Amino acid sequence: MELTPYQQEMFDGLHGRGKALAIQIQKAIGEGFKAKRMVPITRAHVALSAQEADTWFARKMRDAGAVCSIPPTVNPGYCLKVFEELGYVNNKSSALMRETHQVYRDLGANLTYSCTPYLFGNIPRYGETVAFSETSVTVYANSVLGARTNRESSASALCAAITGFVPEYGALLDENRLGTTLVQVNTPLKDEFDFALLGLNAKRIGRGVPVFSGIDPSQVTTEKLMALGAQLNVAGVVDLFHMVGVTPEAPTLERAFGGKEPERVVEITREHLDEQKAALMPGDVDRINFVMLGCPHYTYEQIRRAAQLLTRSPANVPVWILTSQAVLQLARENGLDAVLEHNGARLVPSTCVDEAACWGHLAGQYGATDSPKCAYYMQAFGVKLAVRDLETCLAWANQGGMVL
Ligand code: F3S
Repeated sequence: MELTPYQQEMFDGLHGRGKALAIQIQKAIGEGFKAKRMVPITRAHVALSAQEADTWFARKMRDAGAVCSIPPTVNPGYCLKVFEELGYVNNKSSALMRETHQVYRDLGANLTYSCTPYLFGNIPRYGETVAFSETSVTVYANSVLGARTNRESSASALCAAITGFVPEYGALLDENRLGTTLVQVNTPLKDEFDFALLGLNAKRIGRGVPVFSGIDPSQVTTEKLMALGAQLNVAGVVDLFHMVGVTPEAPTLERAFGGKEPERVVEITREHLDEQKAALMPGDVDRINFVMLGCPHYTYEQIRRAAQLLTRSPANVPVWILTSQAVLQLARENGLDAVLEHNGARLVPSTCVDEAACWGHLAGQYGATDSPKCAYYMQAFGVKLAVRDLETCLAWANQGGMVL
């Protein structure tokens, strides 16, 4: 891979050891993918986690003198204020979260702590080349906004933020952005949960760039696209999808495939969605102890809907709703946090479900969530979740945790 004179200077350490380390890692990655050059980025998002390996890498870069030339936004870890007050975290894990915060601050990151940067704080325009990590963030930026990013890891996205460049391969190239698989959706999709179930069919859809057809564009919302992208990357590996009449690179079926024939055609029916739904209920659950919402972080609209449902039927088990600091602020301005608290739910900012440090106390318990991705991550530390739509989760919470 050829470097420009400036990139070569970075590589040779003329701009400091931190930049040298970062570009050396990127060059190796680029060569692995047969990239011919490195191209500038305008934005970055780092899937920070308050977990040791990630903080180790960030610390190593900070200690080598690196500072981000493109200040990235960052994924959630957990909110120290909330979880220290609740007494759920021990000194060792809160020291790690504190250190993570300090290291990323020293590196010059914007500490947004959210997995929905594309809604607040870091919104790429169509065609912009960016370095985004995090499974649901990358696919949303590529597919819904038409930005160009590969599925960066937190380490490679941080390197890109430090150098301001990425190796050019994969989803950055025109030829890799065309549809490969026509996914004919032959059933109406009514809500976000249906879009999540569609995403869980990723194995049936297979590798490549799926083009969804048969979905009524007038029924598609931001939240439904978020649910689809997030679950496509729980059940499979999808950097980019198109939806005819909805996403910017698919105004027509012909444009989505660049005038070529699809390599494969897959039909999705209601039976396929029901099959996925059946698998989302642990066999032995008859009672839940809590509800976990906000994976990905809930939007203002989702919080408003949860507040309406809870006002009608308050929860009798704890309901946790994860969101960004920006949306929390908006919810507070509009009094929604008070409504939720009055009815048994708590809004929590800056926190991921995949943080055993703050959610470990739920291990061995059953809960409910509207996100298959949430169930997937929390099972890793012993939390079992039944997955259903929001209305059902909150109806169970109202019935004191009984699952009917
Ligand atoms: Fe967000 Fe963590 Fe879920 S980053 S998408 S809450 S796994």
